[in-house]
Amino acid sequence: MDLFSEIEAPEREELRALRKELEEANYKYYVLNMPTLSDREFDEKMHRLQTLEAQFPDMFDPKSPTQHVGSDLGKKGFEQVKHKYPMLSLANSYSREEIEDWVRKLPSGVEIVCELKYDGLSISLWYEKGVLVKALTRGDGQQGDNVIDNIKTIPSIPWKIERNDVPDFFELRGEVLLPWERFEALNKEREEQEEPLFANPRNAASGTLKLQDPREVARRGLDAYLYYMLGENLPGSTHFERLETAKAWGFHISDAIKVCHSVDEVMNYIAYWDTERKNLPVATDGIVLKVNNLAQQDELGYTAKTPRWAIAYKFPAEKQLTLLREITYQVGRTGVVTPVANLEPVQLSGTMVQRATLHNEDFIKSLDIRPGDKVWVEKGGEIIPKIVGRTDRDIKDSNDIKDLKDLIFPTHCPECGAPLVRVEGEAAWRCPNETGCPPQIKGKIEHFVSRKAMNIDGLGEETIDLFYQKGLLHNIADIYDLKLEDIAAQERLGEKSAQNILDGIEASKQVPWARVLFALGIRMVGETTAKKIARKYNTIDTLMWATAEQLCAIEDVGPQIAENIVKYFEDIRNLEILDRLRKAGLQFEGEAEPEPTSDKLAGMSIVISGTFVHHSRDEYKAMIEANGGKNVGSVSKKTSFILAGDNMGPEKRKKAEDLGIPLKTEEEFLDLIKN
Ligand code: IVH
Repeated sequence: MDLFSEIEAPEREELRALRKELEEANYKYYVLNMPTLSDREFDEKMHRLQTLEAQFPDMFDPKSPTQHVGSDLGKKGFEQVKHKYPMLSLANSYSREEIEDWVRKLPSGVEIVCELKYDGLSISLWYEKGVLVKALTRGDGQQGDNVIDNIKTIPSIPWKIERNDVPDFFELRGEVLLPWERFEALNKEREEQEEPLFANPRNAASGTLKLQDPREVARRGLDAYLYYMLGENLPGSTHFERLETAKAWGFHISDAIKVCHSVDEVMNYIAYWDTERKNLPVATDGIVLKVNNLAQQDELGYTAKTPRWAIAYKFPAEKQLTLLREITYQVGRTGVVTPVANLEPVQLSGTMVQRATLHNEDFIKSLDIRPGDKVWVEKGGEIIPKIVGRTDRDIKDSNDIKDLKDLIFPTHCPECGAPLVRVEGEAAWRCPNETGCPPQIKGKIEHFVSRKAMNIDGLGEETIDLFYQKGLLHNIADIYDLKLEDIAAQERLGEKSAQNILDGIEASKQVPWARVLFALGIRMVGETTAKKIARKYNTIDTLMWATAEQLCAIEDVGPQIAENIVKYFEDIRNLEILDRLRKAGLQFEGEAEPEPTSDKLAGMSIVISGTFVHHSRDEYKAMIEANGGKNVGSVSKKTSFILAGDNMGPEKRKKAEDLGIPLKTEEEFLDLIKN
């Protein structure tokens, strides 16, 4: 008898563990929008699992992550629709040699289309008789969520193609993306509102597409690039021709697409875009190579998960090893204590990196890092470098065993010494000494004077620091007690700049109520939330008495924000400050704006033109806004439709025809917004 037959090969255990790990990673990535593995780690583990499964064919399991693509299903509220053609993923590689091999193994003379690999999430658009009827996410590859209302907020996606050469049905697939600029703005706003930041534009796009509020989706500004047309009896015999056709029909097709005829051409394309992609407005993570001829594509066919006629080359994430010198702690305006890694400076994607945020205590624990460790710093799809791991420690080398103890997070505020508190359910430690902790005092004043708040010119970070040191500023109300002679007496500040500051302070008394509310710096009350609150409560006196329950009825205000507001007005110190600000003449009242009554026109840009019978132009404008739409003056390709009355201007009519913008009569419009 074979003595070893009873003992299981350790690789079998590894295989099971990998399946479980990848299953979980898929769930966290697709359902929770919170990736736990980097793309590279995920791919490496997937490769390893594939190798092991080939080694142990008896362990085949159709449910293994190697046999199906990850799923983003499971969000409530969207119709689930079966894909006409399964949405597959692409085989990918980080090695240029493998790509060369793949090209060389194709039949000779085959044309290869090179494209950028956009790093967003895939979408499938269905057009029936030229009309967009569904927009499906990938889901589990077999069925996806219909997110059409959100997709319709993307200006470059046509709702209707007014041409007679469009087939009865076709499907266009592409990638939905949040441009870098929008991503940064969104994260900045989330930071202000103390909401968790998105790790990268892809996660932000994914979170945005799953929102149940198209108006918010429209505000965030998604974009889409399309790269694959499918259907029966479509024009063209090559992939490239089809994309050209789609372009002619008005779709957003990348200009970076190139038909290549040799390995060299492909490699040149990769080399060019490896650097040039950094100048693009959206995130890319590689190159996709596709066999151009559709008949040849059919011959090559598919595996269970991927087409054999395409492959992706993924750009390596830039990663460097460096020394973690020290961890310091920064106290923000709201008292949150953020650990910061101070690194031995290292060159990464063209910039010198010496600091990286460590977010919070849990993050440090999950990486298990301490000063003295060699850590990996990565700059991938994110702009901010991050620490992704460390090398093994050589215990023999360490003569100080104390260093190896777990890192202890400070128990007291590094700035004012107050004992830190950690709110149940939150990751952050906070200094509760709001009115006595210098960075909190200065941070609140900086926020108050900032451009989007009271916009007081001349009071920058340095000046605030100086005035704080000199005892002139302790809180936001002190700003309105500043005297010309006090300011002018400071070094570096003459009478002229003193007068400038006073003018800025005077002008701030006209800043409208919604911005004053934002400027107060109530925790989690950002610019947009403040606007929504100010719309409901048009004087501070009514807001002051609102209960948490009443506040929760406002869009965007959850129990946490409501509680922060109630607490703010319960604090006698705040009431004293508000009293002084009121006496100084700040706007604590505003006009109540009418609230939108429906989302029916969410994300739409509508032009009004001509004369009307049932309502005045102004009334139509109000109706558009009340239903979440935007009234714009001139016709462009972003216009959703024209509300056309009698005697519409001939120029507008011509432009609308040229751009294929639909016209709606008064009656059609009223029908559209009817309940
Ligand atoms: S073609 C059957 N082309 O990458 C092949 N995909 O890892 C269909 N992607 O699911 C995909 N840019 O979300 C194709 N130029 C491009 C792409 C692209 C990004 C995404 C897409 C796909 C994933 C595969």
